[in-house]
Amino acid sequence: MNLILLGPPGAGKGTQAEQISAKYGIVQLSTGEMLRAAVKAGSEVGLKAKAIIESGGLVSDETVVGIISERIDQPDCAKGFILDGFPRTLPQAAALETLLGSKGKTLDAVIEIKVDDEALVERITGRFSCAKCGAGYHDKYKTPSKEGVCDKCGSTEFSRRADDNEETVRNRLMAYYRETAPLIGYYFAKDRLKSVDGMADIDDVKRQINAILG
Ligand code: AP5
Repeated sequence: MNLILLGPPGAGKGTQAEQISAKYGIVQLSTGEMLRAAVKAGSEVGLKAKAIIESGGLVSDETVVGIISERIDQPDCAKGFILDGFPRTLPQAAALETLLGSKGKTLDAVIEIKVDDEALVERITGRFSCAKCGAGYHDKYKTPSKEGVCDKCGSTEFSRRADDNEETVRNRLMAYYRETAPLIGYYFAKDRLKSVDGMADIDDVKRQINAILG
């Protein structure tokens, strides 16, 4: 099963990709995570991407298409994958179609997570994650069961993303409406689009998605 999760920054794509990956045994491919790893590693891609990510802009289509093209050839993607944060522009969507066609793969669904704009800023500025295993949390909506201790790995170290501040979030939203929102119409016209109410709580969104995936 090959899926795309579509939605604005903070909609809950990463949160839901994590649960879909666990339930269906398919790989989560987050271009945001891959780019942050490249920044951390100081690779050529990372050096180019750092300032763009921190300002809330979009990294070049060529760079992210190259990353995804290599990644979906890895053996762990054979059973399927969830694209989280890719494609983000119409040229990326067209490149993905060509890529999948050339590898004999198909797209099973595009799930749009719909969330009101005002909620996005609150979700992003309250987000943090475990510095050791990457498990995601929120100050208000998803706190660890035991304060200060990661539910998954027991670590007590947490971190916040450099681009999770109010000013950058607004730039990210601007990039979303300019470049990514047209993909909703694109996939609707291709009869691939399913939408869920992302304003519901995390478990409810999970139920809506699982009902679509069967
Ligand atoms: P990326 O990492 O993809 O960031 P994003 O799209 O801005 O998405 P987020 O990770 O911020 O949000 P999310 O939807 O995953 O929400 P989450 O589940 O964490 O990209 C970062 C940057 O990399 C981009 O700005 C760009 O520069 C670059 N980039 C990446 N891909 C690119 C591409 N293809 N092309 C070009 N550039 C690219 O949830 C948010 C918070 O809300 C969490 O704390 C969570 O606990 C909470 N939450 C989740 N669901 C709910 C709910 N239902 N109710 C209440 N709280 C909830």
